[in-house]
Amino acid sequence: MKFYELSRQERLASLREGGQLTAESYTYLLEKPALNESILNAMVENSIGQFNLPFGIADHFLIDGQVYFVPMVTEEPSVIAAASNGAKRVASSGGFTTVASEHLLKAQVIIHGVTNHDELTKRLTNAEAAIKRVAISARPSLVRRGGGVRQIEYNQLPEGYEELALWIDPVDAFGANMANTIAEAVAKYLQVAVLQDDERILTAILSNTGEKMTVTIECAVNWSQLATDQLSGEEVATRIAELNHFSTLNPDRAVTENKGILNGVFAVALATGNDLRAISASVSHYLQTTSTPVLSQWQLDHEQQLLRGSLTLPLPIGSVGGAINSLPATQISLELLHNPSAKDLMSIIASVGLTNNLAALRALVTNGIQAGHMHLQTANLAIQAGATGDEIEVLHEKLNQVSQADLTLAKKLLQQLRNEG
Ligand code: MEV
Repeated sequence: MKFYELSRQERLASLREGGQLTAESYTYLLEKPALNESILNAMVENSIGQFNLPFGIADHFLIDGQVYFVPMVTEEPSVIAAASNGAKRVASSGGFTTVASEHLLKAQVIIHGVTNHDELTKRLTNAEAAIKRVAISARPSLVRRGGGVRQIEYNQLPEGYEELALWIDPVDAFGANMANTIAEAVAKYLQVAVLQDDERILTAILSNTGEKMTVTIECAVNWSQLATDQLSGEEVATRIAELNHFSTLNPDRAVTENKGILNGVFAVALATGNDLRAISASVSHYLQTTSTPVLSQWQLDHEQQLLRGSLTLPLPIGSVGGAINSLPATQISLELLHNPSAKDLMSIIASVGLTNNLAALRALVTNGIQAGHMHLQTANLAIQAGATGDEIEVLHEKLNQVSQADLTLAKKLLQQLRNEG
């Protein structure tokens, strides 16, 4: 049986047998335990309970030569199925490749009341060695783990503002807390030792620019993988490239295409305990700096009969630290992903985004999005109604033939099926 045809318990058993889950994680997921009081109270204030969302797996991902079962948390039906379906098409054409990635977080120390910018920039530049020492003593453990301040910039801004930018390598963490700690320590030092006259610190805080936390991934899908019963692979590939091109001309379509990419991005980011607001803020900033309103590119390669896709995204994420370490389910997600580095996780998240994009575009230029949605919903209905084994396919077919399928009807049809023997 295919993974999606198994029951939840059977899926867990197959992941356990395949070595993707430890015995401990298997038991944890099987028993669906709640978060304990101490975790709840340590994570948020005024907690009154917990808010559950479905936790699923998209299979068939091949990323930089590694096979992944990708954990996804989402409330939207079809997102996980679309990811699995798209990933299978990409995997059979060689999978995803990371082209470039960097993982540096910016922290800003903002100075106001500057009357002579050149003179202040000179004083700051002269203090650079001391600033680096202050940064190290603010977070010595970061340096021990191989991270720390990599670059310092001084930016003279209008109206008497000046920015000291610290580019920090947070290793595998997103690094929000460490960037803020370092920036505040540097700000204190500057106020005491470097600033003069009316110059004063306005604030010190990380920036969500995501400018140097970006990843670019690519894939090349054989046209043959895209064919439908009615359309050749070449025709589908051509239409996908056209629809993606239309997004470059039309922001109203681009925003929807981008939303389809974020369906995959957010689901994996949430499953791995990352901050979705940081990703949203970076992506919206990134889109203001690009020449096209759509995040992905899909182009035809006539010579090799391929549809080439690529995606560049700012992905301010980590694979350790903060909520990631506190939540048991997040730890299981990381275990499923072979405990990736932050950069590996960026590649995985971007690959899922591009996959959901491919699946959506393919559906949109062929049968339309509703056909797939209804198809999946009826498959789910058959399973929810209690169908097992061969019954699933038969009931699924019957439900596809009616216009208003729901659970009551699914149960009735299943009963009829069983009565008929
Ligand atoms: C729905 O969640 C996402 C899509 O609208 C994306 C798209 O239109 O490209 C299907």
